[in-house]
Amino acid sequence: MEKRGNDTRRSAPEGATPRHVAIIMDGNGRWAKRRGMPRTFGHKAGVEALRAVIRHADARGIEALTIYAFSQENWKRSAEEVGALMGLLLEYFTRELDELHRENVRILILGDIDGMPAGLERQQRALRDAMARTRNNTGLKLNIALNYGGRQEIVRAAQRLCERVARGELSPQAVDSAAFENELYTAGLPPVDLLIRTSGELRLSNFLLYQLAYAEFYVTDTLWPDFDADALDRAIDAYAKRERRFGGV
Ligand code: FPP
Repeated sequence: MEKRGNDTRRSAPEGATPRHVAIIMDGNGRWAKRRGMPRTFGHKAGVEALRAVIRHADARGIEALTIYAFSQENWKRSAEEVGALMGLLLEYFTRELDELHRENVRILILGDIDGMPAGLERQQRALRDAMARTRNNTGLKLNIALNYGGRQEIVRAAQRLCERVARGELSPQAVDSAAFENELYTAGLPPVDLLIRTSGELRLSNFLLYQLAYAEFYVTDTLWPDFDADALDRAIDAYAKRERRFGGV
């Protein structure tokens, strides 16, 4: 098929800003180790980096930012590290929510809030409150993947569709990609244009397996706590130079 100059779905023209950016924030532990500090020190620095990146993504006019905060597999880490991360999470929502709300940011949690282990009721409440309070905001769509797994999300969507079919709301023939996407945590969000992974690892780690089908990947050796506004600009610049073909030629 001929490539048409005005078909924005097919290419990212020079200077284009991605609508939806997803980030695997990796390298907090190594950042701390290099400084002879405990891993939790790296996570604290990671929250500071996140704050700056959210602000800059908003300023750059990015429509949706999806960050990988805690996977379903991360519960395997030491009780100390999990406890510290859950503490940071609670602190983050307690301290930042007012400002995020003022900035018109809409928060969506991607993942199984109900399935979080016992003892994290305050975190569960904070996450639900953040979503409820910001649900009508029209600015940056900030999506935080938490107790999230890409495979689990796909299986959950399949189950939900089966339930709808069993209830007679949907015929099996009506199960198409649009119906499927509607059952994902990301329903209603634009497709992911750019995936950024810090700390140089070349894997997906069970993140947004469905949604990344046509995303451009950008991997940097920068460890997450060192990732800042300039680093985000560099990733966006690299994206803008890519030619996206979506399977065409
Ligand atoms: C990966 O680094 C990072 C994480 C598993 C946690 C990411 C979380 C934050 C940046 C802060 C918490 C989030 C919120 C929303 C408050 P790693 O520990 O795997 O680093 P390593 O690969 O160097 O060991």
